[in-house]
Amino acid sequence: MRVKKIKAIFQFKPFSPKQKKVLTWWCDNSPVKDKEGIIADGAIRSGKTVSMALSYVMWAMEKFIGQNFIMAGKTVGSFKRNVWIWLKLVIIARGYRVKKATEIGENVFIISRKGKSNYFFIFGGKDEASQDLVQGITAAGAFFDEVALMPESFVNQATGRCSVEGSKFWFNCNPEGPMHWFKVNWIDKAKEKNLIYLHFTMDDNWSLSEKIKARYRSMYVGIFFKRFILGLWVLAEGVIYDMFDRDKHVIKDEKLKSEILTNGRLWYISNDYGTGTVFTLGLFCIYKDIRYLVRSFYWDAKAQMKQKTDGEYCQDLKKLIDYIKPRQVQAIIIPDDALSFIAECNKQNIRPVRIYKRLPGSVIKRIRIQANVLSSGKYFIFNDASNEPIIDEYSSYVWDPKAQERGEDTPLKQNDHGKDMEGYFHDSVNRILKVGSKPSGM
Ligand SMILES: Nc1ncnc2c1ncn2[C@@H]1O[C@H](COP(=O)(O)OP(=O)(O)O)[C@@H](O)[C@H]1O
Ligand SMILES: [Mg+2]
Repeated sequence: MRVKKIKAIFQFKPFSPKQKKVLTWWCDNSPVKDKEGIIADGAIRSGKTVSMALSYVMWAMEKFIGQNFIMAGKTVGSFKRNVWIWLKLVIIARGYRVKKATEIGENVFIISRKGKSNYFFIFGGKDEASQDLVQGITAAGAFFDEVALMPESFVNQATGRCSVEGSKFWFNCNPEGPMHWFKVNWIDKAKEKNLIYLHFTMDDNWSLSEKIKARYRSMYVGIFFKRFILGLWVLAEGVIYDMFDRDKHVIKDEKLKSEILTNGRLWYISNDYGTGTVFTLGLFCIYKDIRYLVRSFYWDAKAQMKQKTDGEYCQDLKKLIDYIKPRQVQAIIIPDDALSFIAECNKQNIRPVRIYKRLPGSVIKRIRIQANVLSSGKYFIFNDASNEPIIDEYSSYVWDPKAQERGEDTPLKQNDHGKDMEGYFHDSVNRILKVGSKPSGM
């Protein structure tokens, strides 16, 4: 079929010198061929995965026969999507044969050429089954794509399985915090462990045009820019939204407000439902491609010394809906843990409710999105008295220094209710409006 054929073509551009290093370091004429392995870290989209995955298979096939090789991503699914699909096509085009080894396992492949075969096992560092499975094999090599997203225990198990003479480790990743286990235990010890260390930037990927590079640069601000674009292992410290400027982001323009109330069509309400603490609602409008928090509701049960019922919260919600009448709300975004509130909205026929699924680790993604809309002039807050608590939170929403010591990025669990409520909104509308294409592996 035609479509299939078109898909099967992967056009290589010339490899950059750094990619060439990744591709050739193990070759017989290389001065570093006896190193134990290689680490490539740095910017997103800098050509790490493409060069490393291809080199790994070529090395394995050149140096071994009948051995097992570990290939790991954050999950099996993400590895297949980000690496395996194109890698398979590329190696087939280079004369290798790829066959599923179903008799061994669901994610095992035999790669052969010129009568030589090896087995390649795909694992997901975060998949629990992988942790057990990897213990059962003896391998001649392990390749970890996006290693910083995997648990250290998995990487230790997998590297511990590489007992075949001549086996090597292959790692690539984007940076995290400087206390991250991979930075401390592998990159900082690269010399000691006899590993090659290469740092990539987008200029090391010659397939990217200046325009595309500029687009990626514009997608990240603050620590995300430093990590994903500059490729640095920097600490997330201090105020999270340090780009927030009251003089710039809090607007008083009454004319604009009445224009939005008259002409705005894309209205949303977002919620954060803290048990026993803060309940908050925000009324947002997207007008001429810019997001505005027009009005909000903020109930601090502790400060007020009164916990409201879900029925009462529904009354507060209705007041916000009535505020824009006859306009309609496109979605009422409620986090998935606010089950009783969702049930009460259903009971009272308040709609359309859109449940926000809070996936583990997703707070960082929401922070990245919100930092981006703030810094790119896409998000403003009206100077309405009801918005004051939300505005105030900007100065006290900070990174948790204890979590940083553990190598994790987490906001301190304080004064974060308005920030969560805003984050659920920005993430949801990005999905609804399909804003912001996501680089693979992120
Ligand atoms: N030499 C090359 N020829 C063609 N495309 C390339 C080349 N190097 C990288 N790319 C493409 O650039 C993009 C980013 O490369 P990738 O290896 O995934 O980067 P990273 O792993 O650093 O994020 C991918 O779409 C990849 O296919
Ligand atoms: Mg990659």
